[in-house]
Amino acid sequence: MTNVDGVQRTLKVALGERSYPIHIGTGLLGKPELLTPYLAGQQVMVVTNESIAPLYLDKFCAGLSASLDVRTVVLPDGEQYKTIEHVSRIWDALLEAGFNRRCTLVALGGGVIGDMVGYAAAAYQRGVAFIQVPTTLLSQVDSSVGGKTGVNHPLGKNMIGAFWQPKVVLVDIDSLKSLPRRELSAGMAEVIKYGLIRDEAFLSWLEATMPALLDVEPEVVAEAIARSCQIKAEIVAEDETEQGVRALLNLGHTFGHAIEAHQGYGNWLHGEAVGAGMAMAATLSNRLGWIDDAALARSLAVIESAELPLAAPANMSSDDFLARMRLDKKNIDTRLRLVLLNALGDACVSDAVPVDVLRTLLDDYPRR
Ligand code: NAD
Ligand code: GLY
Repeated sequence: MTNVDGVQRTLKVALGERSYPIHIGTGLLGKPELLTPYLAGQQVMVVTNESIAPLYLDKFCAGLSASLDVRTVVLPDGEQYKTIEHVSRIWDALLEAGFNRRCTLVALGGGVIGDMVGYAAAAYQRGVAFIQVPTTLLSQVDSSVGGKTGVNHPLGKNMIGAFWQPKVVLVDIDSLKSLPRRELSAGMAEVIKYGLIRDEAFLSWLEATMPALLDVEPEVVAEAIARSCQIKAEIVAEDETEQGVRALLNLGHTFGHAIEAHQGYGNWLHGEAVGAGMAMAATLSNRLGWIDDAALARSLAVIESAELPLAAPANMSSDDFLARMRLDKKNIDTRLRLVLLNALGDACVSDAVPVDVLRTLLDDYPRR
């Protein structure tokens, strides 16, 4: 399957003149020729964090042409640093380097770095080019694709941001070899999400291949990433700014974002919160009579097989959940909108869940 340059698959996010490729393969961090066509000029700012820098920064920068003016920014590692203050550090570095509108920002890291660098690029001099080089499973299957960028606010997850598409996404599967198992599981939550919302056959395949996926067997991981990115690319092409179908990508996220914010950013990983959140959404769908017991059991089993939590945190009351969920970006006016399942592989957005049903779910949902 692998061709000479290490690229196993190239997908496209079709957005007219803002379309871009997603290259997926092995050894791609050492293939700067895949990025060069997308650089806006000679000025390149590579942004990463303190954990990823020792692993990949030198290798990545060494591959870039000596004729480029390459600078680097190394931010602290953690969701708690996904703040406007840390985006400001990127702007400081750009201005100190005298970088102009023809500069290109490169996000080398997971979703935290990708979201921050994308937002820095969206606002710097009213918008400059940026490239995603995602190094976690979660960022490779989700956050690097689709142009959602931004930072957290103490009162809510991802509340400040912009839609700003990258010029290219470079997914090097080899980078997953250094990823801690807990982070791999967190990324698997978003992979499972695609099966649950859009593709029952993919869900069945995930059920069968989960042990190989968690062992990072290259062929199956490449397949999972490619199918995930393909589904995301289709949805983003249809609805870039989330006026409709894109909201389905938030299965489990309304509950999950509430968990993340309430626990303090970084304590529950985003993917762990999404895993429990999807379990809650599936349970609610079952209580509403939309999916049967067998479908609920399959949903819970596949989440659990990825070593993700099903239970909600013990320190969160129903009121804690409801207060956080009322701040969700999907809500319209005061109406809570939830992504739920009609069937495995078929999700919908509903603003008609009776409050008493939601409260009962929250009251008796398992905690740990
Ligand atoms: P992350 O960026 O915090 O990375 C997880 C951890 O893995 C970090 O400690 C990081 O330093 C480390 N790491 C990264 N790559 C590594 C590697 N190759 N080897 C070893 N360690 C490595 O977390 P994440 O799960 O990648 O992303 C979560 C973030 O993504 C959240 O902020 C979430 O809101 C956001 N997100 C955004 C979108 C979007 O559409 N923009 C979608 C989903 C999630
Ligand atoms: N992760 C949700 C989205 O990109 O829309």
